[in-house]
Amino acid sequence: MSQHLWSGRFEAAPDPAAFDFGISFPFDRRLFEDDVTGSLAWAEALAAAGALEPADAQSIREGLTAILEQGRRDPAWVNGPDEDVHSFVEGQLVARIGDAGRRLHTGRSRNEQVSVDLRLYLRRRIPLLQDALRAVIAALAEQAARAGDALMPSYTHLRRAMPVLVSHYLLSHAAALQRDHARLGQAREEANALPLGSGAIAGTGYAVDTDALAARLGFSRVVANSMDASSDRDFAATFLYATTVAMVHLSRLAEDLILFTSEEFGYFELADASATGSSMMPQKKNPDPLELVRGKAGRAIGHLTGLLVTMKGLPTGYNKDLQEDKEPLFDAEDTLAVSAAATGAVVSRLTLRPERTGRAASGLLLATDVADYLVGRGMPFRQAHEVVGAMVRQLLADGREIEALSLAEWQAFSPLFAEDVKTRVTAWASVQARRTPQSTNPDAVRSRLAELRAWLAASGQ
Ligand code: ARG
Repeated sequence: MSQHLWSGRFEAAPDPAAFDFGISFPFDRRLFEDDVTGSLAWAEALAAAGALEPADAQSIREGLTAILEQGRRDPAWVNGPDEDVHSFVEGQLVARIGDAGRRLHTGRSRNEQVSVDLRLYLRRRIPLLQDALRAVIAALAEQAARAGDALMPSYTHLRRAMPVLVSHYLLSHAAALQRDHARLGQAREEANALPLGSGAIAGTGYAVDTDALAARLGFSRVVANSMDASSDRDFAATFLYATTVAMVHLSRLAEDLILFTSEEFGYFELADASATGSSMMPQKKNPDPLELVRGKAGRAIGHLTGLLVTMKGLPTGYNKDLQEDKEPLFDAEDTLAVSAAATGAVVSRLTLRPERTGRAASGLLLATDVADYLVGRGMPFRQAHEVVGAMVRQLLADGREIEALSLAEWQAFSPLFAEDVKTRVTAWASVQARRTPQSTNPDAVRSRLAELRAWLAASGQ
């Protein structure tokens, strides 16, 4: 009995140095369940097309069902010297049911089989990644609710910009992660097309009803062109892009939290459970999980870049290079799953230090509010900007804060300043003065948080 799916054509056994190099079973065994699912549907389609006797179709169905059960019961059994998961499943089927098993591959190629497997895999796994992101978003929303009216500085160029609510800051990260959730959904939809019926490249010669097959497997459509389908991995690249952007967002959140929990900022306290110590310096409490999330974003970016480079020089049709799609895809998935879990755990245990964030939100970062005050009194903004710029220069030279100025001192800079400047120029007045729905205005932030909670409740099933 021949050892490989293609041995008939060859006189000599393959050189292990060349053959073993091409084996994908150690990693594509992850597609086992999807491979069996696809084969069950293919056998049905062949039978409906009259290309398979009902009795053979029946024993294939029974054989594949038993294989699926055994693989689910004992995942370690899905293993061995086989070339790939497709060879393994077919080999097991033939071992169980004999000749009928040899009829399963009628009109079908591994080229479309690997594509259908990957598409089915992504379709069932992407929702799990969306759930992992949802948990991070929920942790951010929870912290935003707990932060109440606490204020902090926002930054541009990593220099204090304007006061914001701590909740507004936390929800800024939630907004980015919500886009990632949606982007993963779009990647899932792109993968949701049936490639079976494409054959090796030219299409199958059996009267398979591809629409019925697509419906049977839950695909929303059939691919448009068999030649394109045999080497189309756009859906894999889209998935890698979606995971990479999500990793970039988690990395940026991690970077913020590394800074904000440092001695220099001290805006949040990192829980002991989220940190590690130093083997030498007893005082250290290191944000290792956050650093690892930041570091792992590099892996995801590498996987996306790697797949695109693999794709770019391929001649039309399937090429074995495409086997290189799976490891980056699986690793990107694992990386995002563990990174989201770690980030969610760290975020949910953060303790805000509102006295520190509040203190940092006062002083010169109110300069824009001072300029707006003058604009409110009729001064053109450009001129107000100059007046306040001179004020800032003076305050810095004297080592004083805006809040320390007497009314006479205010009026020395401009006679337009009146008594109310002291209540109008505060961090709290500043956030209240923001007007747009996306701003840090406390009412706007409250609405955003309510919307986010409604989304979390609706997306949580
Ligand atoms: N292991 C292969 C892959 O992952 C399956 C498809 C093989 N097709 C072929 N013509 N050799 O791409």
